[in-house]
Amino acid sequence: MRKILCIGAGYVGGPTMAVIAKHCPQYEVRVVDMNADRVAAWNSDQLPIYEPGLKDVIDIARGRNLFFLTDETIAEQIDWADIIFVSVNTPTKAFGLGAGRAADLQFWEKTARQILQHATSPKIIIEKSTLPVRTAEAMSHILNTNSIGVQFDVLSNPEFLAEGSAIRDLEEPDRVLIGGHNTPSGQRAIETIVELYANWVPREKIITTNLWSSELSKLVANAFLAQRISSINAISALCEKTEADVEEVAFAIGTDKRIGPHFLRASVGFGGSCFKKDILNLVYICEQQGLPEVAEYWQQVLKMNEYQGARFVANMVHSMFNSLSGKRIALFGAAFKANTSDTRESPALVVCRELLEERADVVLCDPHALENARQDLDEQAEKVNFVADPYQAAKGAHAIAILTEWAHFANLDYHQIYNSMAHPAFIFDGRNILDHQALFKLGFNVYPIGKAPLQHFNHGRTW
Ligand code: NAD
Ligand code: UGA
Repeated sequence: MRKILCIGAGYVGGPTMAVIAKHCPQYEVRVVDMNADRVAAWNSDQLPIYEPGLKDVIDIARGRNLFFLTDETIAEQIDWADIIFVSVNTPTKAFGLGAGRAADLQFWEKTARQILQHATSPKIIIEKSTLPVRTAEAMSHILNTNSIGVQFDVLSNPEFLAEGSAIRDLEEPDRVLIGGHNTPSGQRAIETIVELYANWVPREKIITTNLWSSELSKLVANAFLAQRISSINAISALCEKTEADVEEVAFAIGTDKRIGPHFLRASVGFGGSCFKKDILNLVYICEQQGLPEVAEYWQQVLKMNEYQGARFVANMVHSMFNSLSGKRIALFGAAFKANTSDTRESPALVVCRELLEERADVVLCDPHALENARQDLDEQAEKVNFVADPYQAAKGAHAIAILTEWAHFANLDYHQIYNSMAHPAFIFDGRNILDHQALFKLGFNVYPIGKAPLQHFNHGRTW
């Protein structure tokens, strides 16, 4: 029986190992985390993350060949395993050289040293975390300082799942990428991991490359995805000036096979724990490699994203007669996207903070993400009202802003909501999920993204 250990039971480690365990009953999979509360949640019915379909997979594998453990026994687990996935967090560095841009590799390096300290038999070490290109070289340097002659093969196997569709993405991935060295033992290690995935992924979808291509491909995939959103968001600003409709433009260009229809939904901006940090990291690497023009090119993707959020708030202020002070504003959505409870880098929280600056009376409403939002907002949380029920949240409000595309928000009784609000009532659809004409007919002043606003009065644009 193959023995798999995963260090890090987060958004990636937990679901990925659950799907591996489900499809490979002949393997034992153990997942350790230094966060005891998180481990306890993985072992309970209240899983630490909300992800459609996750509970079903956990119910199949947990206790059979999938085990979540605290890191108290990490020495024993490392020595036990023959394959170790490292799926720890790699946030943006907040201090020292490269602060605000470089990846903070302290958690990753700690695991490398733990492996070195406790391993007494050969292991395949797999970078599952997203890392700067050539990190595996550093990992190999650390691991190969061992004096007991243990063989370590380091592979890169980046994860491409998106939150909210993690289980589907893991069950039916577009591809699995495995990078390794072109040495006999490197190639044997690659083949071992190809066999693991081949338990449920068609072979033609399993791509093998050299280590550096694999590491870099992960950063590049995220950069390209984010770039598409920034591109369509840039065009949304132009649409609002010209009465073109961004959804019509996106559809028209997306029918060109070379462009394709995906990731062209204009929005209040992209969020999530990875796009920003991975692009910052890419920019930093380019600068370090003496490529300032390349760095600047990718930096612009982030600049456009910030502009989109700022533009959204400015539009709210100007449309509501240049003052939000003391006005109740219901924010529909706290999660960075639908079908997740994750609020990391959520544009909803960016808007929330800006509205607090404007001294608005902010009510935050989300079906699954309020607890995470409260933690992320930290001391500002005490100025925010957290209300799970959208009807309650909107009651007495001057405006609603849709910030997460939960399907649930599109299906509310907006007639009832309109009647319960202060008038004139405003709605800012930061995700273009509502029926704007129908809302306008109900009496709302409606402000979509990348489309002309529908207003019952004409106070002239001042922005
Ligand atoms: P996360 O913060 O949710 O989880 C990381 C976990 O690792 C935490 O629970 C932390 O306690 C644990 N950890 C850190 N150091 C440890 C150690 N030494 N021993 C034991 N546990 C330790 O992060 P995540 O969202 O799962 O992301 C992990 C990596 O995967 C990152 O590099 C990220 O860029 C990448 N990634 C994330 C996603 C996503 O959708 N979240 C998708 C693809 C790739
Ligand atoms: C993204 C990538 O899609 C994954 O492939 C990758 O593995 C992951 O990052 C990672 O490395 O962490 P994720 O951030 O979970 O996944 O979610 P996305 O679906 O990519 O959405 C990111 C943000 O972009 C969300 O705020 C979403 O609302 C926004 N978005 C997405 C748009 O504004 N418009 C779109 O057309 C698509």
